Amino acid sequence: MPEPENKEEKNFYLKRKQKNQVFPIKGCHNTDWGLKNRLSRIFHPRTGRTLMLAIDHGYFQGPTTGLERVDVTIVPLLKSADSLMLTRGILRAVIPPTYQGGIVLRASGGPSILKELSNENLALDMEEALRLNASAVAVQVFIGGEYETQTVSNLTKLVDAATRYGVATLAVTAVGRQLTRDAKYLRLACRICAELGATLVKTYYVSPDFETVTASCPVPIVIAGGKKIPEQEALIMAYNAVQQGAAGVDMGRNIFQAANPYAMIAALRLIVHENFKPEQAYQFYQERLRKTEEKESQEI
Ligand code: 5RP
Repeated sequence: MPEPENKEEKNFYLKRKQKNQVFPIKGCHNTDWGLKNRLSRIFHPRTGRTLMLAIDHGYFQGPTTGLERVDVTIVPLLKSADSLMLTRGILRAVIPPTYQGGIVLRASGGPSILKELSNENLALDMEEALRLNASAVAVQVFIGGEYETQTVSNLTKLVDAATRYGVATLAVTAVGRQLTRDAKYLRLACRICAELGATLVKTYYVSPDFETVTASCPVPIVIAGGKKIPEQEALIMAYNAVQQGAAGVDMGRNIFQAANPYAMIAALRLIVHENFKPEQAYQFYQERLRKTEEKESQEI
């Protein structure tokens, strides 16, 4: 039965203007609803930042330390990650489809650690990305690297394909062995990625002048953790990065290779989402570590 048209019973809130909602993610206000919705799975709507857990290392270096058994070591961490950066192989084989965070799918590949790493091609079809419900697709860009033009072309092709379906593109600024990792280089690399259409950029934290890297990049920057460093130093790095304009972290080894990955990811959340100072977050980490050790010694 159609509803009878009776104006008296309806409420049109005539005195209340419909508000245009501001979309909080840097540089993404002019994008379409689908892309914004996908970005909202990556970036926490309350803070506009993300704790992205990177576990894609196997795509060029095989079973990385800490990732030998993703089902055992990573799946229990998922509830603490806003988003997850990984390959389609691991996603399909190991990650529970009940995971609610954003999926950032590795979309480039080719050479292994035995070859020239910048010689990458696109390694994912957009139909497959949609089938896997990806929020974003990720591509490595080697500015100044041997195959610079090829990797830039990978980025632009991926941006075109992803934009067609409202999927975000994460450009990862790879640093070749021979390149200096400083603010001048990262400003160049991040800005090129954003100019060519990346929706977000993953790069490294550098000091000094990291704030000039984030300021000159018109889209959000998330930082990689890089090689494993002591937990306290990784927390300081994450703190400095977000305070200097990063929209969060996209960390791997400094989480899953930590003495206690559960405590580490929880401590990082406090920095990314609650603006904890590094010393407070480290204290939290140590307390968690102590409690786990006590529990384990009681179980022996
Ligand atoms: C390569 C990558 C990774 O495979 C990975 O995501 C790096 O994360 P982390 O440095 O924190 O271990 O992006 O450049």
